[in-house]
Amino acid sequence: MSHLLPATRRAPLLAPSLLASDLANIQATAELLATAEADWLHFDVMDGRFVPNISFGLPILEALRPHAKQPIDVHLMIERPQDYLAAFRDAGANHITVHYEACPHLHRVVEQIKSLGCTAGVALNPATPASFLQDIAADLDLVLVMSVNPGFGGQTFIPHTLQKVAEVKELLLDSSSGALIEVDGGVSQANAAALVQAGADVLVAGSFVFKSPGGPVATLAGLRQLLREAGSEPDAA
Ligand code: DX5
Ligand code: ZN
Repeated sequence: MSHLLPATRRAPLLAPSLLASDLANIQATAELLATAEADWLHFDVMDGRFVPNISFGLPILEALRPHAKQPIDVHLMIERPQDYLAAFRDAGANHITVHYEACPHLHRVVEQIKSLGCTAGVALNPATPASFLQDIAADLDLVLVMSVNPGFGGQTFIPHTLQKVAEVKELLLDSSSGALIEVDGGVSQANAAALVQAGADVLVAGSFVFKSPGGPVATLAGLRQLLREAGSEPDAA
């Protein structure tokens, strides 16, 4: 299993997406999640060009970092991500994912991320086939399979993504790649076990975690329990 997994935790990892949280209280959210079943904090950066929405960026990441206990998983939905990699590392990113569709020189960008000491991920939009990663799979730490079109939280899971996860898994095995598979968009209790069954190692969830009536801590605990019961995860030692 990949070096990205801490010794005390086996896949699947849970990564709540802060985009759906109360952004006026990001410090309180980070403190609340510090003791929750959250392995990474997913941080969605949107530039209004690569995707039709603008979210937040470097100053908010910098403000969040001192309050966050978990690694910060930065998902760059921006054009020319190569221009901002060092700045995101300096602001506190641990994992940096760029979009396949935004990087004509993807190999160079992946090497840049790694040279900064971050783990390198590549995201695939729903219409981008898994096979497009064939020549770079062995160099990746993470593949992010988008299960909605990026740009907004709260969208409906696109069902064919399940098959894409299985295809990425096969590609990674064929390439002897240790990359983790992360799934992002419309993830909930309705599809989590099936995604893990298909090969997902990291589940990102925004609306499901932050908008559920029970609140984020109970919802994450429920998701963890569901995955245990589905046999997707061994009982904690
Ligand atoms: C979508 C973002 C996702 C989003 C997920 O463009 O990349 O991370 O926050 O939100 P939900 O879980 O609500 O679909
Ligand atoms: Zn995301």
